[in-house]
Amino acid sequence: MEKQIRRQFQQYFGKDALIAAAPGRVNLIGEHTDYNEGFVLPGAIDRNIYIGIDSNTNRLLNVYAEQYQEKFTFPIDDVHPVKGWPTYLLGMIYYILPHKQLSQGMDVVVTGNVPVGAGMSSSAALCSAFGLALNEIFRLGLSRMEIALAAQKTEHHFASLNCGIMDQFASLHGKAGHVMKLDCRNLEYEYIPFDFPGYCIVLVNSMVSHSLASSAYNERRRQCEEGVSFLSRFYPEIHSLRDVRLEQLNHHRSELDPVVYKRCLFVLQENQRLLEGCDFLEAGRIEAFGKLMYASHEGLSRDYEVSCEESDFLVEAARTFPEVKGARQMGGGFGGCIITLVEKDHTDHFVNGIQEKYGKTYGKTPDCFIMQVAEGARILA
Ligand code: GLA
Repeated sequence: MEKQIRRQFQQYFGKDALIAAAPGRVNLIGEHTDYNEGFVLPGAIDRNIYIGIDSNTNRLLNVYAEQYQEKFTFPIDDVHPVKGWPTYLLGMIYYILPHKQLSQGMDVVVTGNVPVGAGMSSSAALCSAFGLALNEIFRLGLSRMEIALAAQKTEHHFASLNCGIMDQFASLHGKAGHVMKLDCRNLEYEYIPFDFPGYCIVLVNSMVSHSLASSAYNERRRQCEEGVSFLSRFYPEIHSLRDVRLEQLNHHRSELDPVVYKRCLFVLQENQRLLEGCDFLEAGRIEAFGKLMYASHEGLSRDYEVSCEESDFLVEAARTFPEVKGARQMGGGFGGCIITLVEKDHTDHFVNGIQEKYGKTYGKTPDCFIMQVAEGARILA
């Protein structure tokens, strides 16, 4: 891919490019906890968005995406949200460039192999790769966390998704062979080795694109905030669901809207699962970790209601394979991929089996991705 994008850039713009790459992510456990100041446990994957970039002197953003045979031009003095994926590039320009003083524009080629709408965070990868590329060519000296925060603002204000920080953080901070335990309250994190030679992560795509789910996602976030606002009347120390204890939530159960109660309950339990899960990982107890993944799925489906029929089917089907230790809906939800932990020696058996089962019921073959936990965003020079 790296060679390909260099060639494309040369062909299209007639000069050499600087190349940046940023990966999508998986999340082992801890879903919908990031915007509730909780913990997440993502890892970067070995699929990337690549950006070829060079500055130009005409104050234009010129973008070419060979994959889609698409090209766009925007004046960089007038960036605003637009429909479709170029909005992410415009958002990053808006949030990370001191664009008013900038005398240059940029020529950009985009390519990549992170599937779109599959819950692997292709948009965060796009923002991260572009942010890193801008930082490099304009020597902005931004930290990776600053780029991640700019990418999160871009999602909020240029794509109307009020997401947490997990995806952008993971894309920019990933480390091969490790997952990251991120505390979304203070952005402190630690790397935890994900080093289980006998197991691998397999993503199974429900082929239900979750791209239209942003309003439901934003609604979940509002429901959590409603729970916090209600409980803080009784307990002034509560500022987020991270501050809420299960007894406090249950004590006020009858006064809370039942849907809000369910949402809050899920988040509290999911955070707890993550903390327990980290202990299991560190102790090498993969089976115990897998059980937590199933419990997470149950909560996502029943209480948080961000699964869908097809994802539920896949998780139940995965459970029937003895080589699968855990499975759950991954990411924002409403389709996309489920994440499974599978015994390495039996991966083919599982992949063939689940494709067949799903095919029989839904008449389509789910894509399966065997994932390595890989390096985060980088400049390829
Ligand atoms: C999406 C968001 C993340 C996170 C997950 C759910 O991927 O971008 O911030 O909230 O959903 O865990």
